[in-house]
Amino acid sequence: MKQLWIVTALAILVVTGCSSNSANNKAAMDGESIYANKCSACHGENLKGAVGPAVVNMAGKYSEKELLKLITEGTAQMPGNLLTDEQSKIVTEWLMEH
Ligand code: HEC
Repeated sequence: MKQLWIVTALAILVVTGCSSNSANNKAAMDGESIYANKCSACHGENLKGAVGPAVVNMAGKYSEKELLKLITEGTAQMPGNLLTDEQSKIVTEWLMEH
């Protein structure tokens, strides 16, 4: 019986070990850091654009819902699924204020 507990404990360790791995992705949970990590390579550090277009004043162009969809799904030229759902929401709200 004792062995069963050891196996169970190991299994739990493995499971939590894996989920903390994917937490890498979640390390940055504010809009500015998420943007800096995942978006600035294409959109520039100060939102003024690089490979991708400038992303300032998005609130004047999109509703929050449209922006969230664009960021989640990407476009013809921009990759989608760069972020977790939660990160997408955070970065969308952050972009709406810039
Ligand atoms: C690989 C480069 C790349 C990355 C990474 C990238 N984008 Fe883009 N993004 C683009 C390109 C290129 C366009 C223009 C897309 C088009 O016209 O189809 C675009 C368009 C946009 C637009 C619409 C701009 C407009 O004026 O309509 C927004 C908003 C946007 N990106 C936000 C983001 C956010 C937020 C991230 C980070 C999660 C991100 N992008 C990551 C390349 C990128």
